[in-house]
Amino acid sequence: DLIYALKGLTELENKVSKILNVNKVVIVPGNSDENDMFKKDIGKAAARLLMSIIKPGNTIAITGGSTVNYMVKAIQPLSSTYDDVFVLPARGSVGHQVEYQSNTLASELAQKLGAEYKLLNIPDHLSKKSLESITKEPEIQETLKKVSKTDILIFGIGNALQMAEKRGLPEPILDFLRRKEAVAEAFGYYFNPSGNIVYTSRTVGIKLDDIKKIPYMIALAGGTSKAQAIKAAGHLLKNGCIVMDEGAANEIIRCE
Ligand code: G3H
Repeated sequence: DLIYALKGLTELENKVSKILNVNKVVIVPGNSDENDMFKKDIGKAAARLLMSIIKPGNTIAITGGSTVNYMVKAIQPLSSTYDDVFVLPARGSVGHQVEYQSNTLASELAQKLGAEYKLLNIPDHLSKKSLESITKEPEIQETLKKVSKTDILIFGIGNALQMAEKRGLPEPILDFLRRKEAVAEAFGYYFNPSGNIVYTSRTVGIKLDDIKKIPYMIALAGGTSKAQAIKAAGHLLKNGCIVMDEGAANEIIRCE
């Protein structure tokens, strides 16, 4: 039965990777929309994947989110450490609960790996002027330079409108996002179904040009409700893997 189930998932993985045009898709059983437990399994699968690809000297950038949080939690503290690996937040804080913010997850991941880390402690909703001047601080500049040289990017994919509401964006911006048909959100960018950016959060972190050069990305998202967002954000992922659940996968196929 188990072998049958695994074969079914492999077929599903192949189908979805063709639709999304990404080279690897990992699918875990279940639907995170129905039970958070399945998000945990997405986290575990992503943790296994991460551990199989980290190389000495790598720089890893990580976003926030509850699914990415499960990945970090799934990593076992290691006996051998990665003291030459560097972990960074992919963005300054962007309005998640603090335990799910990319700064928090970056420091936790670094601790688990025995790696070094640096944070981007920048408050949300700064004025443009304040943000510009903070960004000029030498320490922030140094961190951002490191972020731009990321080898492995780990990120959660969110629903655009849901994330915008969670982050307390004002109604005119929500309206703008609706008009622009924003469906996905990742590292502070909002994407339309074709994968084009329609809105950028006012925060600092990884830039789209940096993202294009990253050798390996791991995206995590689960649940039927994330299918559209995964499809849109999938355009970003040339080299790497999307880890999702059956709920998302079946919906991606259904909408083809
Ligand atoms: O940016 C998108 C979010 O990180 C996704 O968060 O995993 O809690 O749905 P979530």
